[in-house]
Amino acid sequence: GATAGVTASSTPLDVTMEGLSRLEYRGYDSAGVALVGPSLDRVASAKKAGKLANLVEEIGLHPLPDATAAIGHTRWATHGGPTDANAHPHLADGDRLAVIHNGIVENFAVLRDELLADGVVFRSETDTEVAAQLIAKAYRETGDLTAAMGAVAGRLHGTFTLLAVHADLPDTVVGARHDSPLVVGLGEGENFLASDVAAFVSRTREALELGQDQIVTITPTSVAVTDFDGNPGEARRFTVTWDVAAAEKGGFRSFMDKEIHDQPQAVADTLLGRTNASGALVLDDVRVDETLLRAVNKIIVVACGTAAYSGHVAKYAIERWCRIEVEVELAHEFRYRDPIVDEKTLVVAVTQSGETMDTLMAMRHAREQGALVISIVNTHGSTIPRESDAVLYTHAGPEIAVASTKAFLAQVTAAYLLGLYLAQLRGCMRPDEIAAVLAELRDMPQKIHTVIERGEHVRATAESMRDASSVLFLGRHVGFPVALEGALKLKELAYIHAEGFAAGELKHGPIALIDEGQPVFVVVPSPRGRDSLHSKMISTIQEIRARGARTLVIAEDGDDEVHAYADEVFWIPQAPKLLQPLLAVVPLQMFAMALAAAKGLDVDQPRNLAKSVTVE
Ligand code: G6P
Repeated sequence: GATAGVTASSTPLDVTMEGLSRLEYRGYDSAGVALVGPSLDRVASAKKAGKLANLVEEIGLHPLPDATAAIGHTRWATHGGPTDANAHPHLADGDRLAVIHNGIVENFAVLRDELLADGVVFRSETDTEVAAQLIAKAYRETGDLTAAMGAVAGRLHGTFTLLAVHADLPDTVVGARHDSPLVVGLGEGENFLASDVAAFVSRTREALELGQDQIVTITPTSVAVTDFDGNPGEARRFTVTWDVAAAEKGGFRSFMDKEIHDQPQAVADTLLGRTNASGALVLDDVRVDETLLRAVNKIIVVACGTAAYSGHVAKYAIERWCRIEVEVELAHEFRYRDPIVDEKTLVVAVTQSGETMDTLMAMRHAREQGALVISIVNTHGSTIPRESDAVLYTHAGPEIAVASTKAFLAQVTAAYLLGLYLAQLRGCMRPDEIAAVLAELRDMPQKIHTVIERGEHVRATAESMRDASSVLFLGRHVGFPVALEGALKLKELAYIHAEGFAAGELKHGPIALIDEGQPVFVVVPSPRGRDSLHSKMISTIQEIRARGARTLVIAEDGDDEVHAYADEVFWIPQAPKLLQPLLAVVPLQMFAMALAAAKGLDVDQPRNLAKSVTVE
């Protein structure tokens, strides 16, 4: 979601609505605004599911009063579906306080229980309303909105940006920032808060970047920054250098570029809030008896495109951790081959959109045969989670570019969580073993960030290859689906022949394709423990190099053996063997994007493709 807030004497509603429309590129499923002013004894607000146009229409039907400060929000559902009631703002304190929020409050269930015990009645299913009620309570105790915000922010776990207005303070907006963006716009007699500068760049280019764990209080003529405890803080001042046109993609050249950069956050958010009070992993939306899940003797992953490759990665992890047989099947093939499915089969449907018709039909067919269905889905309110026995949401946020990037990383992450969940349920891993994998997973966002920061080498290589007519990709074990995904990205974006192979299969045929100058990406397995896979892959690189291939190698830091036979090495941080796909796929995404851009192609909307294929 995105957040915009403004305080000014003129027309805060118009400014907020314009800000939200400039943040539309971030994608959302509902929108809302709240206003305060000297003649209002309560907050005035409006909110609607769907596009901003729905909110505009609502305000047209029920006009809002004049005001002096406003906050507005576009939401991408995480807790609670995309409905009017779950849209932000959320009101508390007898409708005198309004709060909007981006991110995920991880400990919201515990806090909600505490408020329920106090007799608080909730009007939505959101974690945000919990924050609103806590701020209301703290404000009643202190009479100071800034202090109340700080006290509550200090109690929340997870990632969040919060903005609040109160009817007592008609010219003030208070914001808090923890691991989620918030910038301040410095205007003339008006000040702004927003998720990014795109929201206010048409009114001012002077801005402040808040630091981690800061509170900001703005009025038309003042900006005060503190830490959560109220000590004065410093924010970095900067001048926005780009124009309004570039603002539409938040300064990135394409949505795909933005979404690649969103990946560390997508993985981090997908890991958030997955354990209950006793530390055990939980699914989001469970309509199935756990004893049935314990009895499962076979898993079939059904999905299409990129989502199917996340299923391939899942197979390695789930079989390793749970010792249950896992098949991966393209959804459109599954249904028509009369698959062997019964009450002991668990079908896992993986889908970003939650609407892919092939995947929906496959899961319906599986359910008719008595199978259990768990879905891994990014879009709340879509069809597939509604028809599943349980859901694990990926918190990648909206993905706009047709070629999937951050949704894939989030799907892989969710698949690992599902594997660990089943291992916990069936007692095939000890709690400390599960905790150790979770700790490794929590290190991955930082490592993904490192891979993205090293992107220049990939970009330059791709640009030098803009005339390539064929690129091959090799991988083994979890590197095999990574190779398949790398090839798919290149086909989708650059329209050239690209094919992924299991490296071991090379000598059984595909090696005939190798001749002088043929570019071949090779995903080298983690050398941790130096198992035979690693040395076999080094041999593969030698074999294709000897036949003239140009070897483009993805290898982990410190893997010195690859040097001798690689034309280029794209280094990624070290990772446990099963988790390496989260890193290894990133240079391949960046390569496809850069090569397509170098050819002058539309990176976000490749020809002939649709983001969500809702026909069979
Ligand atoms: C389409 C998109 C692909 C996507 C596939 C599955 O073909 O172009 O990028 O991987 O659908 O989509 P889903 O929404 O089910 O993940």
